Amino acid sequence: MLTSRSLTLAALGDGLDEQRILALNAVRTLADETGLPVYLVGGPVRDALLGAPVLDLDFSIEGDAAEFARQLSLSVDGELTVHRRFGTATVATREVRIDLVTARSETYARPGQLPDVEPGTIADDLARRDFTINAMALPVHGRDEQLVDPHHGCRDLEAGTIRALHDRGFIDDPTRLFRAVRYEQRLGFAIEERTLEWAAEAIADGRMAAVSGDRWRHELERILGEEYPGPALLRAGEIGLLAGLHPALANSDGLRRLSQYAPEELEEDDWLAALFAPLTTEEGEGLVNRLRMAGRMAAVARDTIAVGIQESEILAAGETPSALFQLLFPLEPAAVSAWAKLTRETEVAARLRRYLDELRFVRPVLSGTELLALGVPQGPLMGEILSSLRTARLDGTVASEEEEQALVKSLLKNAKLNIV
Ligand code: CTP
Repeated sequence: MLTSRSLTLAALGDGLDEQRILALNAVRTLADETGLPVYLVGGPVRDALLGAPVLDLDFSIEGDAAEFARQLSLSVDGELTVHRRFGTATVATREVRIDLVTARSETYARPGQLPDVEPGTIADDLARRDFTINAMALPVHGRDEQLVDPHHGCRDLEAGTIRALHDRGFIDDPTRLFRAVRYEQRLGFAIEERTLEWAAEAIADGRMAAVSGDRWRHELERILGEEYPGPALLRAGEIGLLAGLHPALANSDGLRRLSQYAPEELEEDDWLAALFAPLTTEEGEGLVNRLRMAGRMAAVARDTIAVGIQESEILAAGETPSALFQLLFPLEPAAVSAWAKLTRETEVAARLRRYLDELRFVRPVLSGTELLALGVPQGPLMGEILSSLRTARLDGTVASEEEEQALVKSLLKNAKLNIV
């Protein structure tokens, strides 16, 4: 690990790939040309000191970040996005994303909502941040390469400590509760005692309620996007953070069951499913609404609960593959797959695996066009016959194209008789 004294731009460069070095040099050149104080801040400084790969480059500028970004976009031939309201800008080339912010102080008129910002110094900008390890800056302008570390982030990095900057950190921005456990588990650090107390107080005082569903979902997605999210989620459960999102999440059964699997046995949506696994349908809906979940994420969450409450039907389907297929086909395969790991019933797990590995791929040989040629009219009857063919295939009552054709003819005959 680098120390505060040894983190110079040259040493930082050793940890960057070629594209990022080019980007950093372009920022330096522009800083010198414009005469503006520009600092590399937050995540990249932390990661460079840890010797971890630096991916995103974040800069704080004592000056107009939008204008600086505009000029930078020209020199690196990158795409410029400016968020005037927030005083932030992004320059993205195909390989590198450069985030720039006007150094600012922040005040929270309404805790939990977005802050009011005012241009300020780098010291203000560091003082508004979440944890000491994220509140360091490395100047990239001029010749002074001294790390700016007013909150002793370097010391905490060396000690492996996550420490909030002050007692209002979690009140102003409760999403930092999730961030604390995410960094703690990712880095193998420990949240410092006082910081834990502040976290517990913020949760107990109901501060989490002030944050919008979108922001919570975003933080949850960031945890789920970590390489191995399990420990951070369990820790979030332990400190009452999950229960703060929804009381039913006080039950961490699903997370604990999934923790028994090796990371390589798990798939992307398993942890999300594990969170929802112990919930009732009603509780699940409550959480989906609270987090404003939509699309695939909401489907995986809902369907995990749906598979769970159908365990007795899954067992009752017995050895009839088509019955199993009917139950599971409407559900997200990712939820079915997660439940196969989460269930306590080995028989249920075996049925789910059979569905996932084999049954869901079963199709009749005959296609719609071939059915037309056999005289099946377009419309609902076509759908019914295709589905009967699949049922027959699943249950092994037809095993060849000829047998399928024979079945179609008899189904067609019956349908005509029914019509007459
Ligand atoms: N930050 C903060 N409070 C938040 C979000 C962000 O203080 N609620 C600050 C931190 O200083 C953080 C920086 O803004 O380092 C950038 O935020 P983000 O990109 O979310 O953090 P990284 O540290 O870059 O996180 P990661 O490594 O997970 O990408």
